[in-house]
Amino acid sequence: MLIKPVKDFKKYEGLFNKLMHGLTASIFHADECECRIDLSATRGVGIRIENLIKSYNEVQVLKGINLEILPGETFAIIGPSGTGKSLLLKHIVKLETPDSGEIYIDGHPVFQSSGNNQKKNDYRFSMVFQSSALFNSLTVGENVGLWLREKRVCKEQKIREIIREKLSMVGLEGKEGMKVSELSGGMKKRVAIARSLAMNPDLILYDEPTAELDPVTSDELANTILSLKQTTRNTTVIVTHDLNFALYVSDRIAMINDGQIVEVGSPVQIKASQNPVVKRFIYTTTKGIKGE
Ligand SMILES: Nc1ncnc2c1ncn2[C@@H]1O[C@H](COP(=O)(O)OP(=O)(O)OP(=O)(O)O)[C@@H](O)[C@H]1O
Ligand SMILES: [Mg+2]
Repeated sequence: MLIKPVKDFKKYEGLFNKLMHGLTASIFHADECECRIDLSATRGVGIRIENLIKSYNEVQVLKGINLEILPGETFAIIGPSGTGKSLLLKHIVKLETPDSGEIYIDGHPVFQSSGNNQKKNDYRFSMVFQSSALFNSLTVGENVGLWLREKRVCKEQKIREIIREKLSMVGLEGKEGMKVSELSGGMKKRVAIARSLAMNPDLILYDEPTAELDPVTSDELANTILSLKQTTRNTTVIVTHDLNFALYVSDRIAMINDGQIVEVGSPVQIKASQNPVVKRFIYTTTKGIKGE
């Protein structure tokens, strides 16, 4: 079924407003030039998660998550399916509310409202969803430039330049005119990544970025994430069960199992962990050919 752009947009407007609430605050006080905000100025924001608990139908899914992610870190959260990884990301971007506990981003509580003392978030953040969440009725280029246009962040010519640049970063140069329905799963994921990169976020969250990518494209994405770290100072949080990807791109890794963090450390520390849950996860994802 073809959905009209405006209808499609309305459907997701609330969600995107939530994800973009950090952007609007900083648009209006910058000088009028090619862009109304300085997209090259990114900064890492720290995240502190304190005793986060969430249940559905009396089943506790997040069982008291405690985690600290430092400003500018590339941090991976690994773990088996159904353990609460996506749910944790959704709490960080405020798409879910915990039963108890708190998340502090850039030092400010995400959930607790502290009346007059509440400081407006002024960081830009974006999330690449496990499902990509693209607008089917828009072209690739329109998806990538959606928020730059919607918020009138830059002049049109600059927006086109940014779209070109971000698509080329994910290996999709020249694909602006393609429709979402013409893309493979992996291409959709890469468009979703380009869309997130378009605003040069201070905090970018990826949910299973390599799930539909072939090994070569996964490797290219890993290198894109690493090279982004040389040009920006953003904080990157990656939820994945792709252990090799996590080991390759991350400064630190946390393993979540059954709604709890069971290990945190550098890739070297995670690989050497004696925690039986971590050992088993590593063994099952790297065991190689039967009988060897
Ligand atoms: N809105 C919801 N309502 C009810 N249950 C939910 C909801 N969101 C998540 N859950 C449950 O929470 C658990 C964790 O889900 P989550 O999506 O975080 O898993 P995951 O670790 O990301 O798994 P995967 O690796 O398969 O993506 C699942 O059992 C899921 O059914
Ligand atoms: Mg998930």
